[in-house]
Amino acid sequence: MRRLAISGAVLALTLTGTATASTVLAPGRAPDEAALAPTRGPADRSIEQRIDQLLRKMTTAEKLQQVQLLSDGQVTDADAKAGVGGVFSLTDPAKINRLQRIAVRQSRLHIPILFAYDTIHGYRTIFPVPLGAASSFDPDVARADARIGARESATVGIKQVYSPMVDVSHEPRWGRIVEGNGEDPYLGSVMAAARVKGAQGRSYRAPDRVVTSVKHYVGYGQPEGGRDYNTTDMSEQRLRNLYLPPFKAAIDAGADTVMCSFNSINGVPGCANPYTETTILKKQWGFDGFIESDYTAVAETRACPPRTPDEGPCGHGTAADGPSAGAAALMAGTDSEMVSTYIRDYGKQLLAQHRITKSRLDDAVRRILRVKFRAGLFEHPYVDQSKASDPASFLTAADRRTARTAAARSMVLLQNEDATLPLDPSADTAVIGPLADDQHDVLGPWWGQGRDEDAVSVLQGVRDGSTGTTTYAKGCSLSNEEPPAYDPADDCASDSGFADAVATAQAADQVVLVVGETREMSGEATTRSTLDLPGRQEDLVDAVAATGKPVVVVLLNGRPLTLSGVVASAPAVLEAWFPGTEAGHAVSDVVFGKVNPSGKLPVSFPQTLGQVPIYYNHEPTGRPCDVTQKYVSRYRDLRSCDPLFPFGFGLSYTTFSVSDLRLSRTTMPRTGRVVASMKVTNTGDVAGADVAQLYLHDPVASISQPVRRLRGFERVALQPGESKVVRFTLDASDVGFYDNRGKFVVEPGTIEVYAGDDSTATLRRTFRVTR
Ligand code: NOJ
Repeated sequence: MRRLAISGAVLALTLTGTATASTVLAPGRAPDEAALAPTRGPADRSIEQRIDQLLRKMTTAEKLQQVQLLSDGQVTDADAKAGVGGVFSLTDPAKINRLQRIAVRQSRLHIPILFAYDTIHGYRTIFPVPLGAASSFDPDVARADARIGARESATVGIKQVYSPMVDVSHEPRWGRIVEGNGEDPYLGSVMAAARVKGAQGRSYRAPDRVVTSVKHYVGYGQPEGGRDYNTTDMSEQRLRNLYLPPFKAAIDAGADTVMCSFNSINGVPGCANPYTETTILKKQWGFDGFIESDYTAVAETRACPPRTPDEGPCGHGTAADGPSAGAAALMAGTDSEMVSTYIRDYGKQLLAQHRITKSRLDDAVRRILRVKFRAGLFEHPYVDQSKASDPASFLTAADRRTARTAAARSMVLLQNEDATLPLDPSADTAVIGPLADDQHDVLGPWWGQGRDEDAVSVLQGVRDGSTGTTTYAKGCSLSNEEPPAYDPADDCASDSGFADAVATAQAADQVVLVVGETREMSGEATTRSTLDLPGRQEDLVDAVAATGKPVVVVLLNGRPLTLSGVVASAPAVLEAWFPGTEAGHAVSDVVFGKVNPSGKLPVSFPQTLGQVPIYYNHEPTGRPCDVTQKYVSRYRDLRSCDPLFPFGFGLSYTTFSVSDLRLSRTTMPRTGRVVASMKVTNTGDVAGADVAQLYLHDPVASISQPVRRLRGFERVALQPGESKVVRFTLDASDVGFYDNRGKFVVEPGTIEVYAGDDSTATLRRTFRVTR
């Protein structure tokens, strides 16, 4: 609670539309020394006793079934009868109940199955993709998404969601950047905690709640070359300072399950890594839930050659064969094996050979049972099928409204020359582009059980939101094929539709031009080697913008794009991400000014691909960029080292000033606090919201510190002329950092404080940390 403290009686409009006192979210707990101590209370004794009783009765074979997690396509009745631990991706409530009945009635010890699903940004009511939600800088957006997704998932019998995905990433080529919160560990921590609380509520035992699985543990967001599943190699300090904090925040918020990742860090695969799984997560953080492997990630630790047709997944080569892979994963701390079956199949043999221990196996089973007891599965194993088959249980009007608010709040206005936006809702509007009349791509990757036919296209949204005539031209098409059929040459390859697009623009008063990526270009296994708009879309933008009409380019996409050409030709550019079911309405709300955009970028947008990785919280160098010099850290062929749009940036239909940065004191003992305050004023003539941002820099430290680090933010809604003072309380957790021995250190010396409304904030004050 201490971080996002607000001044006065700031009221926030919650996403359900009720005005309530701002529910300030516990921020992602900072990585401080105290936070290393286990944060959970003592385990529930009655649950532990029930687990003891079960463990005493369980045979080794039954224990090995419990640590097995199978997909919907794999699981059989025999697995349920044998006591399989978990099943994922099954969403038919009748099938869920049927399998559960077999497990509860016919398995010897009647242990229920935990059913899981990838509810990432909605189950049936699809919210903006997480990178979009992160752009809201509003934890209520993430929380509402997780709450509604949990309720809809639980309605069909799901009790665990593989969410939140909290991988910090500086890799826009990587398609999965869309699933996380961008490049900043602090923003990522706040959003991670919000999603956990949203999905789990006070207790995930409640019928409309689910247990969250925070993923992918860890370092998955930094694959070499941006290629999914690829190697990660990093220093201890980077691991601790950049990548671990959102996991810690999610665990502290109550996440009881964790998914270990495909990638290796420093040569050690994520699901066979005793340091990250056992030392850090279980021992240092006191995590008492369970870790499931990612899909065949245990098998993938095996060496590959020589290949045989039935060999299956393999690759890392840290295990010689399947049994060794199972043993290494279990002993490292993986408690549940997804899809591959080595622990289950070879467990007895491994025990006999003393390659795994009974105590470790018992511990894994205990953790899985603990989550099942906490979830209330033993008391309520079945789902109410009548509710699950009632269409009124899903996609309610209220949830659609919440999704619409969330989508609009997640959009980032990147450019608005000559106040092109908002457009006039009574004028004639041309809606143009390959994604303009689209109900498929707007849902983004990981659309859960979202349906295209439920989604509102931008064309429909503009029709609904304006009284003038709406016309449409496609311009060109994008391919929705998947590899190997996908051919990038099929993306907006021809300009044969451009003349019609231009004529349609010319005949209208104003243009909404919708371009970007298909949902198949974003998400898992969708690395791109360029960040440009696919195909000839930029040419389409040029052609339509050349009409001189007021044109807004609306971008639907899941990663930072290189937009120098687009901003050079189009007067207005709105980053809408993949907005979800209510896409068209939310776009229309923003372009016609019903909603004043307030989103800020959670990730830097480079000028060119060659600048990647580019992120605001980079470490300094002895030769900082200076484009007037040669022997400095720069690109010879770029006139600036800056991104095109920095982290934290986003425009509004009004203007704001951030002023009066004040510190409550100029020295802070290690155990003390400093309150930083800043005044945010709406200097324009319409109501709007700005995001006050507070950054720190430690200029002299034992290891080089990032040029700045976000340590506080707050979305502030202001009427024209109105001001609010926003306060952030800083302590040791903000000024300290992890060193390369994994130790959190707080060093005496000067701390620079920057305040503003993006990461280039210039207001500056300093204080001294004393011993
Ligand atoms: C693989 C993905 O990496 C992970 O995010 C997902 O939860 C699992 N598949 C299960 O679908």
